Formats: sequence, C-alpha cells, structure tokens
Amino acid sequence: MTEYLQLATCDYPEHVPADRPAIYAEQQRELGLTYVRLAEFAWSRMEPRPGEFEWAWLDEAIDAYQRGGMQVVLCTPTPTPPAWLIRAHPEILPYDEQGRVREFGSRRHYDFASPIYREHSRRITRAIAERYGEHPAVVGWQTDNEWACHNTGRSYGGASAAAFPAWLEAKYGSLEQLNTAWGNVFWSMEYTDWAQVKPPILLVTEPNPSHVLDYYRFCSSLIASFQAEQIAILRERSPGRFVTHNFMIFESGFDHYEVAKGLDFVSWDNYPTGMLEFFAPSGQSDDIKTHFARTGHPDLIGFNHDLYRGMLKGQEGLGRQGAGTPSGPWVMEQQCGQVNWAPFNPLPARGAVQLWTAQAWAHGVDVVSYFRWRAATMAQEVMHSGLLRHDETPDRGYEEVKALKLSDFPLGEVPAKVALLHDYDSLWLYDAQKHSASMSYWTQTVTYYMALRSLGLDVDILHPDADLSGYKVVVAPALTLISAEQARQFSALAASGTRLVFGPRTAFRTPGGETWSEGQFGPMSDLIGAKLLQYDSLRPGLTQSVKYGEGTFAATDWAESYRLSGARALASYAGGPLDTQAAVIRKGHVTVIGAHQQELIGTVLSEILMNVGISVETLPDGVRLSRRAGKTLLQNWNPHPVKWQGRLLAPVSFTVLDA
Ligand code: GAL
Repeated sequence: MTEYLQLATCDYPEHVPADRPAIYAEQQRELGLTYVRLAEFAWSRMEPRPGEFEWAWLDEAIDAYQRGGMQVVLCTPTPTPPAWLIRAHPEILPYDEQGRVREFGSRRHYDFASPIYREHSRRITRAIAERYGEHPAVVGWQTDNEWACHNTGRSYGGASAAAFPAWLEAKYGSLEQLNTAWGNVFWSMEYTDWAQVKPPILLVTEPNPSHVLDYYRFCSSLIASFQAEQIAILRERSPGRFVTHNFMIFESGFDHYEVAKGLDFVSWDNYPTGMLEFFAPSGQSDDIKTHFARTGHPDLIGFNHDLYRGMLKGQEGLGRQGAGTPSGPWVMEQQCGQVNWAPFNPLPARGAVQLWTAQAWAHGVDVVSYFRWRAATMAQEVMHSGLLRHDETPDRGYEEVKALKLSDFPLGEVPAKVALLHDYDSLWLYDAQKHSASMSYWTQTVTYYMALRSLGLDVDILHPDADLSGYKVVVAPALTLISAEQARQFSALAASGTRLVFGPRTAFRTPGGETWSEGQFGPMSDLIGAKLLQYDSLRPGLTQSVKYGEGTFAATDWAESYRLSGARALASYAGGPLDTQAAVIRKGHVTVIGAHQQELIGTVLSEILMNVGISVETLPDGVRLSRRAGKTLLQNWNPHPVKWQGRLLAPVSFTVLDA
C-alpha cells in the first residue's frame, strides 16, 4: 500500500490552560496532522522540586491528544535544567569562548562533561520513560533539543576543561606523542604535564589548529556519549518506539555522523528565511538575501535535507515501529510563519509553507512537523509565528497546510545518481585556517552543491567513509583532511570507473591537522597525477581569470594551481600571478578544480555527468527539480513568474509531475 507524507506539529501544553490540549488535538486532526511533539523544555513542570514529580498535567495532555486521535512524540527535557538544580550544582553550567560562565535564564545551560549533570540527565530520562515509555499514544522520542544550538556544543571551562587532558591521554598515550602529533615544537608549545593542556581559548594569537581539532573532536564525543546514555534508557523502558534527534541548519559544533549513530532516523529543524539571513551563498551579493527573503534559498534548504537523509545511510536503525509509523527522516520543526531570531524576519511569501513542505517530501522527508501549533504568548519567542496566532485564530501557515493534498506526496526513494562528500574534520580544520575572510568550508561545499542542483540533479550527501560504489559520479568539494585509508578507497573507486571530482585544498592535511610532508595531495598524489604549485587568496574585488575551452571565468575568493606529473591541464589561469598555470586538471577518472567559480564548476561537472550518461538540465535561477517515488517536483522559488520549457511557473509555486 502506498504511504504518503504525514504532518505533525510541536505543541506546549505547559504554556496553556489545562482545557486547551483537548481542543487543540481535535483541531490538529481536522487539519490533517498525525503527530504532536511535546515536552522538550518542560522539566520545571515535571519535577518542580528535587525528586518531586508532577505528572498529572502531562498525563492529561497526552490522554487528550490521544482522544483527539493524535500520536505523541515525547522528548527528554534536558535542554533546560531547572533553577533548583543549577542552584544546587552551579558546576553544571558551561563556559563560553571568553572563559565566562553561561548563566541560568534561557536554555542549554549545561556542560556535556559534567558528571553531575549526566546523573540528572539519566535520572529524568528514566523517570519520563518509566511514566510514558509504554503509553499507547507515545510512538517515539526526541533526545534533548538541537544539540549545540546557541553555540553550546562546546564548553570552554569547568567540567569539559577538566576532562580534556584525560581524553588526550587515552588518545595519545604519552605527552611525547601528543607534542609530536600537534607539532608543539613550533613556538615552544611542548607540554610536560597533562594538567597544562587547556581548551584553545583566550590565547595571545591564533591557536594551533591541531589543538583546535582535538578539542572539537573531544567535545563532539561528549555529545555522542551524553545522548547514548539517554538512548540506552529509552530503548530499555520504551520498547518498540523510535528515538530521533532534531539537528540544526549548517551546525558545525559536533560531528553529526558520530552523534547520529544509535538513532533510528535523523530529524532536522528547517527555518528557511532565518537560515538565509545568516548564511548567504558566497560569490553572490546581498541581493540574493533580498530576492529570496520570503522563501529562503532552495539550495541552502535542499543541502540540509540531503545531508540529513544521508546521515544514517548504510546503518541499521530499528526501522518501522508499527503500521503507519514512518522511518524518517523527519523535519521536526518546520517554519510556518515568521521566525524571531534572525537580524530581519520577513513574513514568508504566500505559498512558501506549501513549497517548503513539498520540497521536504521530494528530498526524502517522511514527516513534516510545523513549529509551533500556537504562537507563544509569553517570554522569549512571542514574535515567532505558529499555525495559530496568539489569539488562537488560524494564521496563514494554517490555511496553507489545510490546502495541501497529501496524496500528491507518496513516500519512496530519492533516485540520486551523484554523491557529494562532506565531513566535520575537514570542516573544522578548513575553518581553523581559512586563509580568506570570504571563504569557508560551507561556502565551498555549498557552491558545488548549487552547481549540481542548477543542473537539475538529485544529490546524496555522504561521509567519505560511506559505501560509494553505487554512484557514477562522486564530488568532494572540500575534503581538506584525508587519511591514507580514504586515499586507497578513492583509488579503488576510480579504478572501478567512478568519476571523482575534487575541489581546492583537497588532501592538503593529515588526519592530525598537519600538511602531508609530500605536500598536497599527500597519499592521493599518484591518483591525481599532480601536486600543488601555488595558492592564492583573492580579496573582494580581486579575480583570477581561468580559460576553459572557449570560455573565460573569473575566479573569486580562491585559486590554486598544480604541477603536473601524469595529469593534464583542462583549464589554465590567464594573467595575474598564476598566469599559464594549471587550474583544472584530470588524470583518468579523476578531476580537480582549483579555482572557485560556480559557472566553471557547473561547466566541468556537466561535461563529466553527460560523459557517463547522466542527463543534465540547466535550470533558471530559483527553479529546481527533485525526484522521489517516480514523481518529479518542479518548483519556482522566485517572487516572479518564470517561463520554462513551455510552462509558465507562477511565483513561489510547485507542481508534482508523473515521471
Ligand atoms: C529552534 C528551537 C525551538 C524554537 C525555534 C524558533 O531552534 O528548537 O525551540 O526556539 O528554533 O525558531
């Protein structure tokens, strides 16, 4: 039987009078929603005083949702340790990068390394799982809420700082090894006692990137183990229910692949207009923020969908928990009106909520859950929209959800033929030494993604260690850190016929963060048939010409050139300090693009794709194609109509086509 996209919402019975859940549940069912997520911040109502639990309000709310026909996703309330707990144990609090304590009064005020907080996290998880783990309305769990939100993935003092030396000792065994691995002879940074090693903050000048990399890895491992403790309890006390987590937009504060292990599926929180305000694609002026202000940029959103869809690929989750319970991924929080947290918070365009929902489906999402049911009438988020306004009347998002036809959205596979590689070690190291104020790991990676999406392709985003054997083309935009084992895997892939495309700074660094002593491309030098010659960080306004066939492209931000030893130059620089040097090179099935320029990248990629029989379709700006379950979603994200292939696409609209 075909299954279709399902809808959900996030609701807060602790914010409203006790009679509301029954009313809301009925309205939610009427609107076509199936699931409601509850209680991620409700610790102070669950346990108002140490050890004294008050469940009646939540019992009644869950029963009311059940009577109304809703299924419930419950959360562990650990993002918000209550005031009494912090008062009793202030050492739970985290530290910022200025070495200051981050105080009680908002949320996420805890250090993942705190043994006391770990104990309380297990205790409250046990309590809530014991109470509701087998409740028939409860179908699954969300751990905590948005790991690392508000820069809380890393605490730079207190419990984390205290635990860091032991983590290093377990990793390196001896201080000699640590000093060698980090290159501490540079600037006499050699340690003679583990107690001397601190978090890499408040230094006179920039920290050692190897120090930064290990601190980030250490903090990531803390989140993974913190969550693993909750998952173990939920598995034991809530059999047959799924466990997921709501990850964030372009969050860099931990290794998501590591932390996602052990979940049944991954969820993420999609706030398109806020995301665009913070993260405009590079090489583009601020105009893009204005152009897409009321919808967000399709590729920034699409990137996150594809990232989270691929996160658990190849790993066994528990799968479906029962008839009709989707196995994910979910959008756990979908913007359905204005957000409150960006520098500017425009009202979304008419049709945007539908467009976001359709896009989520086409990128592989099984459930879209709108944040939030009713706009908050108190505290930090009163300016944020919900499906209902503050006065409980339906807001515009509600009307758009009501008009959705879920039978347009059958579940099934996203038939991506291209894989794009992404990993957090490369991200951390790249951004630790960007060498350019206008470049970053995300910018470089997303530029390649945009080039692929502009060609009408569906893309799987995967970790470089994933099984890549099914793909004809694998694109690795910014794999700056590479292991010898990964180099061997790339050689095997290329030998089997897969086309590999690498961007600048590929294989520049070892897994420890130093450069390969044989220079870029380290263990991939033979495979690529070249070595780095020069790199150039281009300030705004400075460009470097690249000649490719008949075309000339103006690289911005970054350009690097190569010494050839087996590869041939497909494109060369013209003029400037890199004049005549190789800009794009190829040996066998392996291509490296050394210049940052989206059209150049798109041109090189489209030739490779066509060579292996993948058809490409050059799409107008803001028009996107996505395929799922035998259907094609055609979307126009522009605030104006677009003529394309004999069709007139209305502004901010979509059509689902067969085939
Ligand atoms: C998310 C968060 C929600 C709410 C929302 C507002 O990051 O999980 O609790 O704050 O943002 O957009």
